[in-house]
Amino acid sequence: MNTLNAAIIGCGAIHVCHLEALRQLPDVALRAIVDTDTDKGLALAAEYDCDFYHDYREMLCDPAIDVVHICTPHFLHKPMILAALAAGKQVFCEKPVAMNLAEVAEIRQAESEASGQLGVCYQNRLNPTSLALREQLDEKALGKVLSISAFLSWSRTAPYYGNSPWRGRFATEGGSLLINQAIHTLDLMQWFGGGVTRLKGVVDCARLSDTIDTEDTAMATLDFSNGAHGLFFASNNHTRDAPLQLEIHCERGELLLRDNTLWRVAEGKRVMIASDTTPYSHSKSYWGIGHLQAIQRFYNAIRSGHSTGYTSLDEAAKSLQLVEAIYRSSQLRQWVTLTA
Ligand SMILES: NC(=O)c1ccc[n+]([C@@H]2O[C@H](COP(=O)([O-])OP(=O)(O)OC[C@H]3O[C@@H](n4cnc5c(N)ncnc54)[C@H](O)[C@@H]3O)[C@@H](O)[C@H]2O)c1
Repeated sequence: MNTLNAAIIGCGAIHVCHLEALRQLPDVALRAIVDTDTDKGLALAAEYDCDFYHDYREMLCDPAIDVVHICTPHFLHKPMILAALAAGKQVFCEKPVAMNLAEVAEIRQAESEASGQLGVCYQNRLNPTSLALREQLDEKALGKVLSISAFLSWSRTAPYYGNSPWRGRFATEGGSLLINQAIHTLDLMQWFGGGVTRLKGVVDCARLSDTIDTEDTAMATLDFSNGAHGLFFASNNHTRDAPLQLEIHCERGELLLRDNTLWRVAEGKRVMIASDTTPYSHSKSYWGIGHLQAIQRFYNAIRSGHSTGYTSLDEAAKSLQLVEAIYRSSQLRQWVTLTA
């Protein structure tokens, strides 16, 4: 097998999950890293034994680089994806793929004209609990889904926003809690529920109103295409990053995600179905454990030439559509219908 050479753009908090995955994949080599922080970039390049670039456009000129991982602030995703696709690279981008759906449309056009593929990182779909839950739903183990509720309580404080000034601003982050933290929860809800037809949502900035111009709390009531109901609540105002609590109420019982463990409750019995464990010591458990699997699937897709499936642009657009709909509904104070 030919070795695929990778570059990572943006060496902040999340890049270690990409680095670790690249180290574990066969016939993949980290060839370069890019960061506008030259001191940090040079030190990391020495540690990783790879090239360093300050300007990603220079890195894109290196014909030896096959795959580009984008781990930068949200407002840079679209321009970096467009430039990397235009340079003939394969592109794996952190979520959200873009700041909004208008940007997604531009990316879709560029992708249709490009030789390379685009993958987006929604690693939580690949958690053992998510895969097992999806299987239970596909098998209709407990009958029809009646309702899905999700409760996310994490902690993001003023220093978190102060340390990375791109966060907490609509212009550079595109929102906060919804587009950055809770987007995984919304993605899982729509993936398990089979598509949302309409929603009514509210966003608020409660504790952080002196620090950010975006939201720290949000909730929504959703209708799924199969008639099921949805309840969503998320806040960054907790004092720790608690595991996602998700419940799927079905005709003959419930599927419960609690403490990263999936339970099936039916006929008076509670049975453990699957559990997530964290393979990387430097990876935070609440980020989920699927980076390696998501990146591996992307590299398999590159080698086979088939679509990336789970990580495709169309899949990435679905949660972004929910994020946009909640912002719009909150502004309009009414239900918003989603187009398929
Ligand atoms: N999948 C997940 O669960 C998960 C978790 C955390 C973060 N993320 C995503 O990862 C991305 C990065 O988040 P983060 O928390 O690592 O951010 P961060 O602020 O910690 O790091 C961003 C890095 O990008 C660098 N950078 C900024 N502008 C650049 C440019 N023009 N060229 C090259 N480098 C540049 C910064 O110097 C910094 O090192 C975001 O999209 C975020 O939503 C995903």
